Amino acid sequence: SMITYHHENGHSDLIRAVAGTSVMRAAVINGVEGIIGECGGQAMCATCHVYVREEFLDLLPEMSDDEEEMLEITASPRDAVRSRLGCQLKITTSLNEIAVDVPPTQV
Ligand code: FES
Repeated sequence: SMITYHHENGHSDLIRAVAGTSVMRAAVINGVEGIIGECGGQAMCATCHVYVREEFLDLLPEMSDDEEEMLEITASPRDAVRSRLGCQLKITTSLNEIAVDVPPTQV
């Protein structure tokens, strides 16, 4: 499975991830810049905020109340449609490829 992280400067990181890995975890493990994951994936920090690229929006899991709340306090502005917490997006058979834009700041 592939996760693509697009950065504001035009650079992108293409990361191979196994099932069960989250968009946050894969970024942290591979040193992708701009994704922090301070709370370790518990939907309690919002430093794993990403903007999901349009073509993958239909594949995403439902948003929990915790995620919904954390997205209200992201450092970069929330996008009504594309903003998600990277830690809540796990690679599965239905979501085996995804591309996201990394926000300008997480803190
Ligand atoms: Fe903290 Fe996602 S890692 S909310």
